[in-house]
Amino acid sequence: MSDQTLSDQTLSDQPTPRQVRLTINGKSYERQVEPRLNLADLLRHELRLTGTHVGCEHGVCGACSVIVDGVPARACLMLAVQADGAVVETVEGLAAADGSLHPLQAAFREHHGLQCGFCTSGMLMTLKALLQDSPDADEAAVRDAISGNICRCTGYQGIVDAALDAAAQMRGKA
Ligand code: FES
Ligand code: FES
Repeated sequence: MSDQTLSDQTLSDQPTPRQVRLTINGKSYERQVEPRLNLADLLRHELRLTGTHVGCEHGVCGACSVIVDGVPARACLMLAVQADGAVVETVEGLAAADGSLHPLQAAFREHHGLQCGFCTSGMLMTLKALLQDSPDADEAAVRDAISGNICRCTGYQGIVDAALDAAAQMRGKA
């Protein structure tokens, strides 16, 4: 096979970029992406939404947790093309437009629910999804929800206290 034929074949083997449209934190985005690009890399590298962190890259640590169509999802395990048409929430959308913190964010600060902060965006999004579905979540439910989110710093107690406090505050406002 000639070099020319080889390079033609290599070029033709390149996956065709696909168009994706999605809504993230209320804003519409449209991009051409490689079919193999995962949602975490789309968020971080293409859209510069770097609040979503990437740790293990294989679905174990939970650092990349976001909410897709109301359901918590591992952004490292989801292809960007699978999110076509979806409504995605990331940590950047938690605070209000005026900068005031979401009750979960405020409670994390109050209860020392973070140290290095690497796991925090994933924790917050996992807990936001929990409290959306289960405003009355108790300690067992909180611990169960974050059982797929690994924190190497806090010992978890501050995170659990923060989640329960935020839940109580959100119920009070509701
Ligand atoms: S980076 Fe996705 S679960 Fe760890
Ligand atoms: S605060 Fe450091 S990993 Fe959780």
